[in-house]
Amino acid sequence: MKKIVILFSGSGTNMQKIIENLKEKVEILECITDKTKAKGIEIAKIANIKTTILKSKKGTELNNELIAHLKDKNIDLVVCAGFMRILSPEFVKEFKAINIHPSLLPRHKGINAIEKSFEDKFDDAGITIHFVDEGVDTGKIISQVKLLKEEGENLQEFGKRIQKLEHENYSKVIEKILFTF
Ligand code: GAR
Repeated sequence: MKKIVILFSGSGTNMQKIIENLKEKVEILECITDKTKAKGIEIAKIANIKTTILKSKKGTELNNELIAHLKDKNIDLVVCAGFMRILSPEFVKEFKAINIHPSLLPRHKGINAIEKSFEDKFDDAGITIHFVDEGVDTGKIISQVKLLKEEGENLQEFGKRIQKLEHENYSKVIEKILFTF
């Protein structure tokens, strides 16, 4: 069975969908977070998946801890699902990793991408799933899904539609990466 780990920092709704959709098809070895109070920890616990909270705080130390922790576990894919840390060049050399981002990259890299998309001049917005490289939201794009902005829609409604697109698409792309590439 293919082996994945999921990295997350926050509420873990993408992680939850991945667990629901893929738990019978792949081995989700563990869910790993950098935040002791991440809401997603409860989701992983309920799903009975091992949860690891990283001890390191600083970027380099955290990356080294992560590399040491995952080494020799034969992981096929590292799935970032709202993991708000930059993975180091050493990490991305060692592991194949993908990320989901709530904008049509290269528009709005980094934080607050939903707010920035909502306010920008374009009629469309959407999500991007991409390989992780050493930059911030810069890796090779695997898939993008668009939506059109709606007249009179507020930020909350727009954010919900973006989140729905993420939930509907991330597991499918993970499966594709694991089983067809
Ligand atoms: C998601 O919208 C994801 O695209 C975003 O964080 C959110 C996590 O939500 N990631 C990034 O902005 C990465 N640059 P979740 O914890 O509920 O899955």
